Amino acid sequence: MKGCMVATWKMALEGIQEGMQILNGNGNLHRAIVEAVKRVEDNENFVSVGYGGLPNREGYVELDAAFMDGDTLGAGGVMAVQGIKNPIELACSLSRCSRNCFLAGKGAEEYALSQGVEMQNLLTPNAMRRYESSLKSNLKGDMDAYDGHDTVCVIGRNQSGSIACGVSTSGLFLKHPGRVGDSPIIGSGFYANSIIGSAAATGVGEDIMKGCLAYSIVASMGSGLSVQDACEHALNYHI
Ligand code: GLY
Repeated sequence: MKGCMVATWKMALEGIQEGMQILNGNGNLHRAIVEAVKRVEDNENFVSVGYGGLPNREGYVELDAAFMDGDTLGAGGVMAVQGIKNPIELACSLSRCSRNCFLAGKGAEEYALSQGVEMQNLLTPNAMRRYESSLKSNLKGDMDAYDGHDTVCVIGRNQSGSIACGVSTSGLFLKHPGRVGDSPIIGSGFYANSIIGSAAATGVGEDIMKGCLAYSIVASMGSGLSVQDACEHALNYHI
């Protein structure tokens, strides 16, 4: 069986090229996915993920990320965290824990510090400028909170047939502080089962969560539908 990776959006292209090199080399699936997502988190030009992400309404960049291993069904995530350079790293390590796998806000940040995770000011001058100009246009009543909002999702399979996925986002621009989208919610923003397959979501979390879409798609694949039919079935039913 050949290793493969798929991801959302053009912003993930370089990341999955690097991930494929890892998969074709030592075959470490988790590392391949984490490195692919990190390439997006670290690029300040991608304004919906990690460093350079657009801030919440108080001007703070707040991130969500999650990881799932399809062999063990181990999943972990962080939500509404500030200052963590690569939340996908933390999510991946939490997915190996048997308890306390999903951490939010201050508790997640304290855990990150205790683990020696790299911290960084994630608000770039460009993101700050967008924030300030949106606040001005908000006063005029024409703010678009969804502007620039897209999640990076990476799904991979190695030569042994193990499947895993990772997701990362800064969520909605100008979101309420503490707002959590679908991305770190198992079954909504992501799901992986090596026997069946994996799905992950990009879009407005409040809508995706209503249908637990990632799990719904994987469950449909498990009942025998093709990937395409499973996606159509889940989405048509949801709509
Ligand atoms: N899909 C990511 C979010 O809504 O935050």
